[in-house]
Amino acid sequence: MSEQADQPDQPDQPVGGRVDLDAAAAAFEGIAAGVAVASTRWRRLDHAITVTSYTWVSREPALLLVCVHEDARFLDAVEGAGAWGLSLLPQSARATATWLSTPGRPAVGQLDRVPHRSGPTTGVPLLDGALAAFECRTTAVHPAGDHVVVLGEVVGLGPTTGEKPLVRFRRSYHALA
Ligand SMILES: Cc1cc2nc3c(=O)[nH]c(=O)nc-3n(C[C@H](O)[C@H](O)[C@H](O)COP(=O)(O)O)c2cc1C
Repeated sequence: MSEQADQPDQPDQPVGGRVDLDAAAAAFEGIAAGVAVASTRWRRLDHAITVTSYTWVSREPALLLVCVHEDARFLDAVEGAGAWGLSLLPQSARATATWLSTPGRPAVGQLDRVPHRSGPTTGVPLLDGALAAFECRTTAVHPAGDHVVVLGEVVGLGPTTGEKPLVRFRRSYHALA
């Protein structure tokens, strides 16, 4: 067998080890992700955005992280407030996910039509009907490319529900079967 025949099929790769960023972004859309809302309260205003770039990092201490785009208005708010909420959306919350990811929506009154309450520990908004809701105090902020990783210790828990999650996959919302 020739040496060439041993090589696996390779997609065209740019020289220097750099990948095609559009292709990488398209590939990441193959990750099915639970949809959540990151929220905070800063300067007497509620701020909230739809997110899928979040994860549970550590059990003890209990740490969560969320990745926020450097251009998101939410970034200033969460950095200023030092505390934030994460509400895991149920499959019935598509309209909320769409609203809170709409570019240019008014900064004032973002949660006026989204049922929520203030977390008792930090005062950040937590969405009613969430599968789970966490109150976090920021412990570290790390710039990471065009995003900022915001790490927070969980200091409060909202009530949980038994609903199924809202899932994002290939640029569409899905419900689990
Ligand atoms: C399904 C979905 C997931 C998203 N995940 C994130 C995310 O993890 N981090 C982020 O910064 N933006 C994410 N976005 C984009 C923000 O929700 C969107 O840019 C929002 O309008 C930002 O609002 P702001 O500029 O008021 O902060 C996501 C959007 C959608 C539709």
